[in-house]
Amino acid sequence: MDKFVIEGGVPLHGTISTNGSKNSALPALAAALLTDEEVVLNRIPRVRDIRTMERLLVDIGSDIAIDERDPERVVLNTKTIVSPEAPYELVKTMRASSLVLGPLVARAGRARVSLPGGCAIGARPINFHLAGLEHLGARIAQEHGYIEAVAPDGLKGARVVFDRITVTGTEDILMAAVLADGETVLENAAREPEVVDLAHLLRKMGARIEGEGTSVIRVQGVSKLHGATHEIIADRIEAGTFVIAAAITGGDLCVTNCVPEHLGALTAKLAEGGVTVTQVDETTLRVERANAGSIQKSMRAVDMKTEEYPGFATDLQAQYMALMTQADGISIVTETIFENRFMHAQELMRMGANIRLDGRQAIIAGRSRLTGAGVIASDLRASASLVLAALVAKGETVIDRVYHIDRGYEKIEAKLSGAGARIKRVE
Ligand code: EPZ
Repeated sequence: MDKFVIEGGVPLHGTISTNGSKNSALPALAAALLTDEEVVLNRIPRVRDIRTMERLLVDIGSDIAIDERDPERVVLNTKTIVSPEAPYELVKTMRASSLVLGPLVARAGRARVSLPGGCAIGARPINFHLAGLEHLGARIAQEHGYIEAVAPDGLKGARVVFDRITVTGTEDILMAAVLADGETVLENAAREPEVVDLAHLLRKMGARIEGEGTSVIRVQGVSKLHGATHEIIADRIEAGTFVIAAAITGGDLCVTNCVPEHLGALTAKLAEGGVTVTQVDETTLRVERANAGSIQKSMRAVDMKTEEYPGFATDLQAQYMALMTQADGISIVTETIFENRFMHAQELMRMGANIRLDGRQAIIAGRSRLTGAGVIASDLRASASLVLAALVAKGETVIDRVYHIDRGYEKIEAKLSGAGARIKRVE
């Protein structure tokens, strides 16, 4: 198993470029199941979760070609659905496998998907996906840890009101609704940029969708979708991680190829804390907390609460907590999306952070002097927060189980070392 060895203390400088969004690419790949024609996706990040989804699609019956000269270009052809199933072995490593549920029922009239079970950040059931499909006329049964959804006569448009905002739930039901008979209205839908990106792809494939990016999405079902070419949006969580990396190390960094608008909640918090964030052009943010003379520009502690988009992303909460250990004063971080997403706090404390956990809140007293230690990555974003803490810790930090970070960050060590960080991967 790979580890990262990080020697802290170097402010990041220069530029770091952003990849395509993992959480946009996953539903886009699943959407290719909706047609028997060719779907070409550009800017697919080469991270582990994407390889898992590609493996799943090949098992289902897709032909997948990854361009040798440009591995971020993926060409998918699904002439027939050979096996409409997502097995436990894949679902347990990546919950987003349940994104094939909607497309399979819509195209093949049948899907068998393993129930995901618990994961590091909470229970994370898929009951809203199932309720949505039931509203569209699918029959759902559960046996041997699998969900079977069938709609032999096709799905029928309906009004679906989500009990709670769910990102992949909205995506799953949206993909089912595009081939349903008649109109579907999704209410309390997720407004995340990844949902909007999926709607754009589906529209290129011939779907009739209105209202993406708002909480009411209207779909007029069509009988068939066709092939399309689409470029995935920038990964706002990857970009946000680099923005925080610049702030925590007291650097001066340009994060390029991102969508600054998608990072509004984060950049507002940083500005409130005294970090200078400027939009250089349409796709570049510059983050400065560099030394002014011999005095490091200080940063103030700022409370933060995670929320659905356009609120502060839960996927940046762990990284923000690492940052708050280096801000002056006390901050309260409240996690409202997942019930158990503070696993990184214990590891940050092992590095010297002063954090108290109280239910869904973490109270962080800064600034702490962090020192390098052996720490363990517990999930994708928790790992990112440990990398950030290590970048400012005194001495060497060894992060174990970095396969978690490889699920969602492509060559993070190369990107960070390009900006001056002392980070290497060891076996
Ligand atoms: C997506 O997960 C992302 N994954 C997550 O990113 C992200 O943390 C999350 O949205 C929230 O923004 C992908 O896009 C592939 P939800 P998702 O359904 O869709 C509860 C990362 O690090 N819920 O919006 O699975 C759920 O337990 C990952 O890249 C139900 O109770 O999240 C949670 O408390 C991690 N029943 C809340 O709703 C359901 O049927 C929101 O979850 C569905 C969700």
